[in-house]
Amino acid sequence: MNNIVLCGFMGCGKSTVGKNLSRKMGRKFLDMDTYIEQKAGMKVSEIFEKFGEDGFRDMEHNACKELSEMSELVIASGGGAFTFKRNSEVFKNKDIIVLLDVPLEVVKIRLKNDKSRPLLQKPNKDEIMKELYNKRLPLYRDAADIIIEGQNSPIKTAFSIIDEVNNFRRLNSMNR
Ligand code: S3P
Repeated sequence: MNNIVLCGFMGCGKSTVGKNLSRKMGRKFLDMDTYIEQKAGMKVSEIFEKFGEDGFRDMEHNACKELSEMSELVIASGGGAFTFKRNSEVFKNKDIIVLLDVPLEVVKIRLKNDKSRPLLQKPNKDEIMKELYNKRLPLYRDAADIIIEGQNSPIKTAFSIIDEVNNFRRLNSMNR
């Protein structure tokens, strides 16, 4: 049984939905950013400050490689992870990649008061979010095996994922 990896924009609910999903499936939950923070011994914001975004992306890529070696996990990826082909390639055809598709207007509201995400600590936050969102959505869609509308409650979304994962497995007749 391989991993289920949630992807999507910041604020789409990867961690909250992922925790619900792991409980319902009896799997362990792992948050990629937390994994990176534990390895680095510092917060994502400090990594950005100290090593720049490129430094963070390298750590993120290493985390992808390491997590893909594990199995039976529900993984919440960071919002940038699946915008890089080198990361999608690590999981593709091995694990099941699920995009939580949430409209820009919804994530804008959820991230309005966010202080923890380095990419959003700018005066023109709304503009940056719109630009990033539009640039990233096609990349997420490309990487994903399954696309789920993520606007419902986390538990409802988790149940939709379970249904779609079962369908996906059936259609691909594989034991992933
Ligand atoms: C990022 C998203 C964050 C975190 C980092 C960069 C991004 O994760 O990995 O701040 O590039 O979208 P969340 O999606 O969990 O906020």
